[in-house]
Amino acid sequence: MAEQSIHGMWSSRLIFVLAAAGSAVGLGNIWRFPYVTAENGGGAFVLVYLGCIALIGVPIVIAEVVLGREGRQSPINTMAELSRRSGRSTFWQVVGWMGAGTGFIILSVYSVIAGWVMAYVVRMASGDLAGVDAASAGAAFEGFTQDATSVLGWHTLFMILTMFIVARGVGRGIEVAVKYLMPALFFLLSMLVVYSVVTTGPAFAEGLAFMFSFKFEQLSWAAVLLAMGQAFFTLSLGMGTMMTYGAYMPSKASIPRTAAMIAVLDTSVAIMAGIVIFPLVFANDLTSSSGPGLMFVTLPIAFGQMTGGQIFGTTFFVLVSFAAVTSSISMIEPACAWLVERTRLSRPKVAALLGAIAWLLGLGSAFSFNYWNDLQLIGGLNFFESMDYLANNIMLPLGGMLIALFTGWVVDRSIVRHQMSVSDASLTFFLWIVRVVAPTAVFVVFVMTLLR
Ligand code: PFF
Repeated sequence: MAEQSIHGMWSSRLIFVLAAAGSAVGLGNIWRFPYVTAENGGGAFVLVYLGCIALIGVPIVIAEVVLGREGRQSPINTMAELSRRSGRSTFWQVVGWMGAGTGFIILSVYSVIAGWVMAYVVRMASGDLAGVDAASAGAAFEGFTQDATSVLGWHTLFMILTMFIVARGVGRGIEVAVKYLMPALFFLLSMLVVYSVVTTGPAFAEGLAFMFSFKFEQLSWAAVLLAMGQAFFTLSLGMGTMMTYGAYMPSKASIPRTAAMIAVLDTSVAIMAGIVIFPLVFANDLTSSSGPGLMFVTLPIAFGQMTGGQIFGTTFFVLVSFAAVTSSISMIEPACAWLVERTRLSRPKVAALLGAIAWLLGLGSAFSFNYWNDLQLIGGLNFFESMDYLANNIMLPLGGMLIALFTGWVVDRSIVRHQMSVSDASLTFFLWIVRVVAPTAVFVVFVMTLLR
């Protein structure tokens, strides 16, 4: 087994945790989780989501990191090599290919939304939104997304920023970014939670009840699929991201313990984002299901009312941009690592090329709110919604299921044991989860959604 990857290594276990948490914590937690939860009835959805994190998510994080640290290469080459070493067909590397493809899809959508976030940094800072009421905040958001030129400009800027960091490499780029941005993010989010507790009064309890009261009748299989998709998305699972980051992880650190830390950090941020957003929704008498615009409408209203809201609001969106950057760099790293391994082209060249492809694909999402408003792809969804649906509800769970099966049934047990360094009983327990429990859960949810 290689001790080093050719791409570089994290300088410590802590940096690995920050990088992996940086990947996990992103728009998925702060922007997507609240609105998807709101659209799917709240409590029941959150509880299924938490169940998916614990039962399927954590074991698959462990599986990805185990594979990555053993292979020390891009997912495509890692999966090919581990198949070979286990005496199996190298066809399994298609899972790596699928993952790289999914990375482009997700990054393309992500960059557009992250562009909105950066635009809101400027809007907040300029005092444009000071004192807005619900109606004008909604109108301001719609007006902005309909302005194709500025959406495109922000999308371009975000993509350049992402690729700049990726081009600098694992140590000088990604590590430096996560080392500063992640602690800052945690700090500010904690302050916002305190603000929400202190200022929203009775609406605070209402917000919490909305998130945690389990109403069984609200739960459809479609909602279960969404909850599962969100669990994969939020943990950056199913496309080889955690595998790639695992390839740069120091050999000694405990994988199960680290994986649990990542899941706890990620889940805390999602819950904290909910604690900030839902009470504000209820305190301002807004409807909780205003779709992707939830964060861009509700928060500006709340910040618009509070003292120091301009500074607070600006900082909030700055930090959401940070969360977005530390995730977006991880989406393209699997493909980037592969192309560097394959061609020995320099990283900056590879980053520029891949960034350009993701940028082009992103035009579809950028135009979904203006020029291509009426275009419908999958089942009446527009381009943006179709990409989101395809990636989160199909590609990630499918990829995760295949990675679990690969780890459980294809890779030699001795390899997994070597990386996990746990007792035999724990190893067997883990293996049965990735062999049977996690894949069956994904399969059942897929089938039930189709039969619905
Ligand atoms: N986990 C990120 C979020 O919650 O925003 C999104 C993500 C990052 C998905 C990296 C997939 C990925 F490979």
